[in-house]
Amino acid sequence: MRLLGSIILLLVLGSALAYKSYSGYQVLKTAPLTPAAMPYVNRLSRRFDFWGTPGVGRPATVMVSPQDAPIVIAALNRMRISHEVMVADLGPEVERERAENEALRLALPRSPRVAAYDRFMEFEEINAHVLETVAANPDIASLVDLGLSTEGRELLGIKLSNGAAGQKSVWFDCAIHAREWIAPPVCLRIIDEVLADPALRDLADWYILPVANPDGYSFSWTDDRFWRKTRRPNPGSNCIGTDPNRNFDFLWEANDVFCSETYPGSSAFSEPECAAIGNFITANADSLILYVAVHSYGELILYPYGHTVEPAPNAADLAAAGTVSADAIAAVAGTRYSVENSAAGLYFTNGASDDFAYGSGAVLYSYTYELSGGGLIGFNPPPSLIQPVVDEVWPGLKALVEYTLAN
Ligand code: ARG
Ligand code: ZN
Repeated sequence: MRLLGSIILLLVLGSALAYKSYSGYQVLKTAPLTPAAMPYVNRLSRRFDFWGTPGVGRPATVMVSPQDAPIVIAALNRMRISHEVMVADLGPEVERERAENEALRLALPRSPRVAAYDRFMEFEEINAHVLETVAANPDIASLVDLGLSTEGRELLGIKLSNGAAGQKSVWFDCAIHAREWIAPPVCLRIIDEVLADPALRDLADWYILPVANPDGYSFSWTDDRFWRKTRRPNPGSNCIGTDPNRNFDFLWEANDVFCSETYPGSSAFSEPECAAIGNFITANADSLILYVAVHSYGELILYPYGHTVEPAPNAADLAAAGTVSADAIAAVAGTRYSVENSAAGLYFTNGASDDFAYGSGAVLYSYTYELSGGGLIGFNPPPSLIQPVVDEVWPGLKALVEYTLAN
């Protein structure tokens, strides 16, 4: 009897442990940050999980575990950064969202031929869609097989081209950060549009990688909704994963804070996903003009560099092209993306993908798009926001490509 009891207890615990509950986790929201607050936030963000790209003039949100909450609250008070509790307990919201996604997944099945914009797609569904798209459009589409992730998932991109020799090319990747689920639908929309419009393929060859961090993305479905990093273990630490957007081989900077959400990895390109993307960018430098990484959230169009506020050589062009894109986005439904230098406001980063693509000399134009947030938490737009976000961002990306190829 005792044995049976323990077995049942273990089973119950086991299933509860499989999906992180976030019970008791809080989300704190600060007042809009002053320049003086930025260095503190920068330092705190090495240890705690800030959402939504902190910057001067914007509020920052930080998710804290029950153990970390008093530490972060005391630190914010000490730094005189006023803040409020935005979500007192994340647990129910995570549960509600999970149930909603599961119900939608069952209610809205998809043929691999069509991308879903009424619900989020799992990694396997997205890859099946990429393969199916290539198979169905042999004249236009080809598979860009970048190899395997740490856990052996395929990094499948797609090339869309009219086949003309000497074409310039543009690159888009989505969901290098696992939990940013609103990003892959943007990549899938690009594929839909470029497949349907030969004029877009006359402009350039298009490379699109819908899920740049497949292990992390899958893990955010099965185990932990807010997983950001890769899934490669860190020897000597219980904390798994590297921030892929600190792992690129451009001014990569070491640290050993394995548990940090921005841990840069054991070396530049220690993560196979980043190495694969980086090598592809470098190998195609002759044709590439534009690099875009799609993230969430913040309604931002960020351009290099992330490590210094010194303007990049063509900073004026980078800003001008970004503004054309932001205007095209605003024209759809009034959402105003702000165009900024990544490091403006002293949120310094090293080893980010956009800075690598630009700093390695591969592209003249390089951006990180931070899409809209939404939902109770800000971080999690509900499925009903996929379509509107995609609808407004696509014209902005199209305008960006048109501008950068004309200039
Ligand atoms: N939220 C993104 C990150 O922290 C922003 C990256 C923007 N690019 C940059 N070079 N800082 O990874
Ligand atoms: Zn991100």
